[in-house]
Amino acid sequence: MSRKGIYDVHCHIVPGVDDGASNYEETKKLLQMEYDQGVRGIIVTPHFRFRMFETPIERIKEQFVLVQRAAAEIGNDLEVYLGCEFHANMEMPDMLRSGKVSTMAGSRYVLAEFSESSEASYIRERIYALLSNGYKPIVAHIERYEATRSDLNFVEELDDMGACMQINADSIIGKEGFSIKRFCRKLMKYDLVQFVGSDCHNTSDRISRMGEAYSYVNKKMGEEYADYLFIENPQKILKDAKRRKER
Ligand SMILES: [Fe+2]
Repeated sequence: MSRKGIYDVHCHIVPGVDDGASNYEETKKLLQMEYDQGVRGIIVTPHFRFRMFETPIERIKEQFVLVQRAAAEIGNDLEVYLGCEFHANMEMPDMLRSGKVSTMAGSRYVLAEFSESSEASYIRERIYALLSNGYKPIVAHIERYEATRSDLNFVEELDDMGACMQINADSIIGKEGFSIKRFCRKLMKYDLVQFVGSDCHNTSDRISRMGEAYSYVNKKMGEEYADYLFIENPQKILKDAKRRKER
């Protein structure tokens, strides 16, 4: 397990705003779990999805204060930032611009989620909409969609366009089945993935296995590559956020 301090860029730890942590106690347990996995930086990403998760940003920010408080109680070396897992819709750029939905830690990066059955043409068009409005899309759990899982060329095309890809820790280590594990290996082999997230929701069945995933990648792909995915790329988000803040 890493002792260097890895990052989680996709998780549902903010209490009472989506289908993740339900209260402060669970938030704290999830943060402790992340900490025990070697995570020292977390971008929390509550869902925003029309007709399903529409918690107002003001409420999310209020609840995020509780995440900050719980993190401080766990360790002064645990940093938390606010992001969002933004289910793609036709109003994405406007909603981001107006601040109704958070980017990743205030950076230009946006964690964009699609439906499992979303068509390639829709994914391509929404990614293009984000890019052309100055955002840096990160496709959430790219291993989950039919359009990407069945066609590595399409993932390559998204990469060429300028999108980043995120895969889940559980998918890397085989908790989602062998074919998904193999697909993740391929993405890593061809350098078609930039981020790993736990996508943890609770302390029972959707937990954080970030440290296990780091160890696996370290073993199979080498330490340099593991650090690139789990440390260096997440730090790029935070650097981008810092630049935007200072301007
Ligand atoms: Fe998620």
